[in-house]
Amino acid sequence: MLIIVCSVKNAPGATTLGLGLAALWPENNAVLLECDPEGGDLAARFGHHPQPGLTGLAAVARTEDAQVDLGEHAQELGVGARVVLAPPGDAAAAAVQTLTYSGIEVLRRAADEQAVILDIGRLARGKPGIRLAAVADHVLIVAGAQLSDALQVQARLEWLRPELSGRLWLVRSGDNGYGSAELSRELKVPVLGEMPTSRLVAGALAGRLQVPNWRRLKLARAMRDMAITLTTAQPASILPPDTAAERLVAVEARS
Ligand SMILES: Nc1ncnc2c1ncn2[C@@H]1O[C@H](COP(=O)(O)OP(=O)(O)O)[C@@H](O)[C@H]1O
Ligand SMILES: [Mg+2]
Repeated sequence: MLIIVCSVKNAPGATTLGLGLAALWPENNAVLLECDPEGGDLAARFGHHPQPGLTGLAAVARTEDAQVDLGEHAQELGVGARVVLAPPGDAAAAAVQTLTYSGIEVLRRAADEQAVILDIGRLARGKPGIRLAAVADHVLIVAGAQLSDALQVQARLEWLRPELSGRLWLVRSGDNGYGSAELSRELKVPVLGEMPTSRLVAGALAGRLQVPNWRRLKLARAMRDMAITLTTAQPASILPPDTAAERLVAVEARS
C-alpha cells in the first residue's frame, strides 16, 4: 500500500504523522520515505547520518528494473520505525525528483508487498509530490481546523478532488477550530482521524524526548487507529502510473 502524508500550509504535523504511522503500523513491515524536496528533518532530529537513505535509493531506482529492497536504504530510528532518510536542504530535491520521474514503478512494486509511506511535505502546484500523489492508494492531508486552515485546504481541493476522489483523506491537527464532522461535511472529504496536541508523543516522534510508554498515549492511539482504518479501507482504483500522473498534472495546469 502506498500512502502519501502531506500538508498544504504551515507545519501541522505531517512528518510527525508519517513517522507515527510507520512506527505503529499493524504489520511490522512499514517503511517511511522522506520525500520532502525541501529536505528531511528526521536525520537531524534523531541524530542519524542521512546515508544510507533517499539519495542512494533514488540512484538505484533510476537504474534498476528489478525489485528494489527499500529496507537496504532504511535506517531504524529509536521510536521503532524504519525510515529512508533524506538529506537536509536542497540536496533532497534532486533525490525526490529522480525518484518521482524514474522510480515510480519501483515504489509501486514495493508498495504491493509492504506499507510504503511517503512524506512529501507540502502538496503544491508544480512540485514532484503531485506525481507521487497520483499513484498513491491513500493521500492524507494534515491540516489545522481553524477557518483559515480549512480555506487553504478547500482552495486545493478544487483540482485535487476530481482525480484523487476515493483516496483523499484529511487529518485534523490541533485542539481548536472545527470538529471533524463539520470539517468533513464542509470540505466533502472524509476525516481519517485527529492529532490532538501532545507534548510527549510529538516529543518522542521528534527525537526530543525519551517517552517509554508513548505508544499508549492518546495521540499514538489515534495514529494507530488511522493505520488500521487504512489497512481495512476499500482500495480505490488507480490508473497505470503514467496515465494517473499525466492526468493530475493536466488538471493542475487547467485549474
Ligand atoms: N500533535 C502534536 N502535538 C504537539 N506538537 C506537535 C504535534 N504535531 C507536531 N508537533 C510538533 O510541531 C513541529 C512540526 O511538526 P512536523 O511534524 O515536523 O510538521 P510538518 O511536517 O507538517 O512540517 C515539531 O516540532 C513537532 O514535534
Ligand atoms: Mg515535514
